[in-house]
Amino acid sequence: MAPQPAISIAKTAPKPKGAIVFLVAENGELPPSAKALDTDGRLSDAIGIAGFEGKTGTVVEVIAPQKGVDRVLILGLGKREEAGEEDWLKAGGKLFAALGKSTAATVHTDLSDGKALSPGEIAHLASGARLRAYDFDLYRTKKKDDRKAVSIAFVTAADTAARKALKEADAVADGVMLARDLVNEPANILGPVEFARRLEDLKKLGCTVTVLDEKKLTAENMGALLGVAQGSVRPPRVVIVQWKGGKAKERPVAFVGKGVVFDTGGISIKPAAGMEDMKGDMGGAAAVSGVMHALAARKAKVNAVGIVGLVENMPDGNAQRPGDIVTSRSGQTIEVLNTDAEGRLVLADLLDYCADKYKPQFMVNLATLTGAILIALGNAHAGLFSNNDELSERLTRAGLDTRERLWRLPLDPDYDKLLDSKNADMKNIGGRLAGSITAAQFLQRFVKNDIPWAHLDVAGTAMASPKTAYSQGWASGFGVRLLNRLVVNDYE
Ligand code: BES
Ligand code: MN
Ligand code: ZN
Repeated sequence: MAPQPAISIAKTAPKPKGAIVFLVAENGELPPSAKALDTDGRLSDAIGIAGFEGKTGTVVEVIAPQKGVDRVLILGLGKREEAGEEDWLKAGGKLFAALGKSTAATVHTDLSDGKALSPGEIAHLASGARLRAYDFDLYRTKKKDDRKAVSIAFVTAADTAARKALKEADAVADGVMLARDLVNEPANILGPVEFARRLEDLKKLGCTVTVLDEKKLTAENMGALLGVAQGSVRPPRVVIVQWKGGKAKERPVAFVGKGVVFDTGGISIKPAAGMEDMKGDMGGAAAVSGVMHALAARKAKVNAVGIVGLVENMPDGNAQRPGDIVTSRSGQTIEVLNTDAEGRLVLADLLDYCADKYKPQFMVNLATLTGAILIALGNAHAGLFSNNDELSERLTRAGLDTRERLWRLPLDPDYDKLLDSKNADMKNIGGRLAGSITAAQFLQRFVKNDIPWAHLDVAGTAMASPKTAYSQGWASGFGVRLLNRLVVNDYE
């Protein structure tokens, strides 16, 4: 993996070396720290010549301004009052990218108007740099030549508070990067057993990790999940991660993830073109893993349970066939008309299990569930489906706060009835129309007792992601910051 920048917080500026970074809000002036350095007015000149106005994402670079200093960077922050979490991440990403070959940087966090960045803003800036530096290069034996270990010091008077904020932000960024790693890993490496093994690492953070193997899944009557898994030589696993940071009696919040480590479609096989993307069909499970990491690493005052269903959807002599009827854990029977609609089969058993075993306050499941959600919403929003307006509004709010945005789509008996089957309690596909909604309706049939539930269809947001200043790779880690924020906002 590409080296992560080493971030530190300093109360006073170290001896100038490497890159020196100053921050300027839109239409702002150079901060006092910059003016102190700019005795000959060269920095002010540079700003004038570059036509720099402090607009978001703009940078002025002055190379070799004095002996021993590589460069001065003046980073535009845009309208500071309007800046949210993601704007700071973007600025941090931009900052990291602008360092060029410098291996040390000092970032002054004062601003011209006498205000300075808050500890939280500094922490997000640092996370942006870390997330920008993330590069999945594990399997490149010839690494890119711009790979470098960088140390970045943020100078702030509020150093103690900034260190604390940084620790919290690191917990979340590490969770995002864990999710990215899992999504980026090829399926030959990351099968169900290996995925489960990686989750066992969360024990080090104080989580309880329970792994259910085939025998236990059979004992649990998870016939829908097992039907998907039976075509693969690699056995399934269900992993339950618990973080108990809240009061002993408090019911947990629950996150459930689709973890199809590879989705060939099964006997209803997918076309060859682009099938390699289906290594990311565990993006929901990756987000659940990432948020559990984040909550545990920052010792969140909440009880949380994360459940992932890890299977491989393969066609072989033992694979399930179109027309097979399976009995789910809930007792409801399902006619599997299309073996490529497998994610909902996995989640059906997990949702039923989760409600029974953990009686959670709510369940949010995440899944790369339908191609249709890409047609409806593209890459900018994940689909949100819910039986509960309050949960739905809280998720939407967390999405706006983090800009991991959600857009709610309807659930309705008129869609639900499209799943009725002559031969069983339901079929696993609803036909050509409203594919993302019928998938959600299917899931809802397995949500017991109207427990507050939301389904996030992340097929368009977890993988094959558009590049941003803080996300340059294929996997975005979508969902980790969102769910962490949901907990921060409403459950801690
Ligand atoms: N994993 C896919 C959905 C998917 C598509 C995720 C593109 C990411 C990118 C899912 O298992 C699937 O195959 N869904 C089918 C459902 C259909 C058979 C009803 C689909 O979307 O075509
Ligand atoms: Mn599929
Ligand atoms: Zn799938």
